[in-house]
Amino acid sequence: MSDTVTSRIAGFHKLPMAERIQHIARMFDLTDIEVTHLQGELSLERETANQMIENAIGVFSLPLGLGLNLEVNGRDYIVPMAVEEPSVVAAVSFAAKIVREAGGFSADSDDPLMIGQVQVTRYGDPTEAADKILAHKEQILALANSFHPQMVRRGGGAKDVEVRVLPAPEGPRGEPLLIVHLLIDTQEAMGANLINTAAEGIAPLIEQITGGKVYLRILSNLADRRLSRATCRIPVHLLADFDLPGDQIAEGIAQASRFASADPYRAATHNKGIMNGVDAVAIATGQDWRAIEAGAHAFACRDGQYRPLSHWFLEEGHLVGRLELPLALGTVGGPIKIHHGVQLALKLMRAASACELGQVIAAVGLAQNFAAIRALGSVGIQKGHMALHARCVAVTAGARGDYVEKVANLMVKAGSVKVEKAREIMATLHAATGTDG
Ligand code: MEV
Repeated sequence: MSDTVTSRIAGFHKLPMAERIQHIARMFDLTDIEVTHLQGELSLERETANQMIENAIGVFSLPLGLGLNLEVNGRDYIVPMAVEEPSVVAAVSFAAKIVREAGGFSADSDDPLMIGQVQVTRYGDPTEAADKILAHKEQILALANSFHPQMVRRGGGAKDVEVRVLPAPEGPRGEPLLIVHLLIDTQEAMGANLINTAAEGIAPLIEQITGGKVYLRILSNLADRRLSRATCRIPVHLLADFDLPGDQIAEGIAQASRFASADPYRAATHNKGIMNGVDAVAIATGQDWRAIEAGAHAFACRDGQYRPLSHWFLEEGHLVGRLELPLALGTVGGPIKIHHGVQLALKLMRAASACELGQVIAAVGLAQNFAAIRALGSVGIQKGHMALHARCVAVTAGARGDYVEKVANLMVKAGSVKVEKAREIMATLHAATGTDG
C-alpha cells in the first residue's frame, strides 16, 4: 500500500465526496467495513459513547477532511483533519504544495519523555530535602517502574528524578515549593494515566524520605522534554502570487514573524493559526488536544513573554520557517481502539510511531501558519476566507447540492456574504429555473 500512496492528488477537491472516498479506498486498500464507516457512521457507537462519559445523550460530529500535498522527511502524508473552520484544510494543502516544490518539510521529534510532578510540603530545609530525594533516586525510579513492568520491558518507564525549589508565591515568609519531577519515557502512549499512577505511587516514599507531606501528584502538560520541530526552506521565487513578486511576499511573511516575536497580542493569533492545523489533526487522530493546547501555550511563554511558536526569516534568497512545540501524542490508548474515525485516520496517516506523528503534526502547524501569514502579509485573508465562508452561509440559508457553490459565488461577486443575501439569490435562481434549491 505505502508504495502507491501519494499526497499529491490533483483535482481531489473538485470530485464528489463519493468519488473521493473511492479514490482513498483504492489507495489505502480500505476494507468494505472501513468504506462503510467513511460513507456513513465515522463516529462513535452510541453505546460506546454512553460508557465513555457521564450523562451521555448522543455523539457529536465534525467535518473530516484530508490535507494533501504534504511531504515530510521525503515521505508523503495524507493528513486527516477534523475541523469546522472552512479555510483550514484548503490552507494546509495549498501551503504544503509550495513547500513540496521546495523539497518538502524536514521534521524531528524528541523521545517521548513526560514529566510527573509531586508537590512536597513541610519538609524542613529545602536543600537538605532536595539532597535526600536525589540520594534516593534509584529507589524512587525502581518504585515508579514497578507500576509499569510492561513499559519497562519495552524500553520505556521512569528514567530520572529532578527536584525543583521554587520561591513561595506569598513572598519570603512562605515555605518555598519543593517539586519533584519524575521523568518517564511513555513510548507510544500520551501517558497521562501511567504518569499519574507513578506519581501517586512514589508519593509515600517521598514523604518517608523527606518527612514532609505530599499534596499534588499529576503529570505536567508543559511537555517540554517532548518537543517536535518542523522546518522548510523555500526559494523566494516560488512565492510569487497575487501579481506580486516572491521577494515581496517573503518580506511580508518575515514582517509577520517579527510582529509576533515582539507583541503577545499578535503572537496569540499567530499561534492560533498554527493550532488550527495541529488541533484538527489531533482531534482526527484521537489525541488529547486540550493537553496539546495547554503545552503549546505554556511553552510559548517559557521566557516570561508569550511568543510565537514559529519563526520565519530570509536567508540567501530563501524564506526559512521553523516551528517547535511540545506534542504529547499517542498511537495507543485514549479513544483509539473504540472510535472508527480515529482508527481510520491513523491508518491514512501512516505514522509508524508517536514520534513520527509529531513530525507530521509539526509540519502541518508550520504549513497552516505559512498560509495565514502569507495572505496577511500581502493581500489580507478576507478575500480567501470569504469565498470559503460563503459556502457555509449558503448552506445555512438552505442551499444544497450544486446550489451551494452557485449561491456562494454569487454572494462573493455581489460583495455581500450574508444569510439574507443567500436567500435572496436562491429565490432569484429558483424563479429563473423553476427548481428548488
Ligand atoms: C484564523 O483562524 C487564523 C489566523 O488569524 C491566523 C493568523 O492570524 O496568523 C488567520
